[in-house]
Amino acid sequence: MKGKFITFEGIDGAGKSSHVEWLAEWLRAKGLTVHVTREPGGTPLGEKLREMLLNDPMHLETETLLMFAARREHLARVIEPALARGEWVVCDRFSDATYAYQGGGRGLDRTKFQILEHWVHDHVQPNMTLLFDLPLDVARERIAQASRVLDRFEQERADFHERVRQAYLERAHANPSRIRVIDANHPLDDIRKTLEKTVSSICL
Ligand code: TMP
Repeated sequence: MKGKFITFEGIDGAGKSSHVEWLAEWLRAKGLTVHVTREPGGTPLGEKLREMLLNDPMHLETETLLMFAARREHLARVIEPALARGEWVVCDRFSDATYAYQGGGRGLDRTKFQILEHWVHDHVQPNMTLLFDLPLDVARERIAQASRVLDRFEQERADFHERVRQAYLERAHANPSRIRVIDANHPLDDIRKTLEKTVSSICL
């Protein structure tokens, strides 16, 4: 059996990360081997790049190239080998995030994004992407309650995050069979039920 690649996406504060581990456990209980990973990051080099990307000011194209450099490493060392072994990969963010943040949020020319996507993973796309969507004010409130130093992206203004959200929704609209929009403004248990139903219908 071929492995499956599932990605989680959404604006900062959408609460997706808390569902990543839960979904992995749910799949493991079905006897599947599941790797949980994240972007930027997922490899020792990728985690170093993450540190820079989240904290150091840089040119937009440097930021985009580093996201894709970390992704290339991640695909080569973690994602592709796992899928080739027939295992599952559940990844907290992937290229839709570059489309939404560097494209929608920061205004990177979409053709540059497409060139990099084609170069780095033309042969690999997620089998399914779960896009956690919720109103910006709810997400901002959750971020404001975080008792830690906010990263460069979380510190961006509300209009940046609104553009990120709209870019995600636009991408979901253009890829309806891959990207499933999850209404994240619901109680945890309801969201989990939706996840079970969505993943079962497409992947199991
Ligand atoms: P996280 O907080 O979900 O771990 O993600 C880290 C931040 O990195 C998040 O604010 C979104 C941002 N990001 C991009 O801007 N572009 C990308 O391609 C990825 C993967 C993440």
